[in-house]
Amino acid sequence: MVRVMRIAALVLAAGRGERMRSALPKAFVPLAGRTLLARSLAAMACVPEIDLVVPVVAADALERFAALAPERAGIAKLGAAVAGGRERQDSMAAGLAALPPDVGFVAVHDAARPLVRAADVTRVVAAARETGAALLVTPVTDTVKRVRGGLVVETPERSECFAAQTPQVFRLDLLREALAKARAEGVVATDDAQLVERLGGAVRAVEGDPTNRKITRPADLAWAELELARRAAEEAA
Ligand code: CTP
Ligand code: MG
Repeated sequence: MVRVMRIAALVLAAGRGERMRSALPKAFVPLAGRTLLARSLAAMACVPEIDLVVPVVAADALERFAALAPERAGIAKLGAAVAGGRERQDSMAAGLAALPPDVGFVAVHDAARPLVRAADVTRVVAAARETGAALLVTPVTDTVKRVRGGLVVETPERSECFAAQTPQVFRLDLLREALAKARAEGVVATDDAQLVERLGGAVRAVEGDPTNRKITRPADLAWAELELARRAAEEAA
């Protein structure tokens, strides 16, 4: 098959990780002996459809990332690290600006989701190739309430509620247009798909795996260690 446009993954790792309450920046916290960042980079690199993996780290963590050389050594397709920005959206924009010109699609992924499975990335990439935009989601188990000032204002139908995960995959020109519109209108989002939704185009929701959890608090790290052990046992069986 002739591939015209390459697919790049941006792995966003420039957050402070305040809720993790760790001395290290969250992306550099080890999970079973390997940093969240190295795990997320490797997870994206092992997806056959992904051609290039670009880490986005905080400007003051670039040296720390360089010092991760032994951990990085085994990761294929790795591009040069890019300095992120204050908000997640700034980090995403910095990553986009650094992509080479032959990239046609981009998969934006949280470094804080090291447990994503390759098969799920492949499915969300395929969906984005059809519509231009797609993300992994997982159904919520609790009923969701929209609350403002301590009062419930809405209870959306639970069967229509899903939690957004990453990767979120976009045609590059579409994401660039969405970012430009958000900037012009002063919109800052914590979710990339939200920016593309504002353009009015179709964004496909692809059901992923609940174990692609975002490592946010210390308890998530403890859970992730158990999940890794469970997977290892499953593979050995
Ligand atoms: N992120 C980023 N640049 C920022 C903020 C966040 O690259 N300015 C990245 C984080 O490194 C993380 C992902 O976006 O991999 C999801 O963000 P989140 O889980 O909120 O991580 P942090 O912002 O680091 O954590 P916290 O909100 O607890 O401070
Ligand atoms: Mg954050």
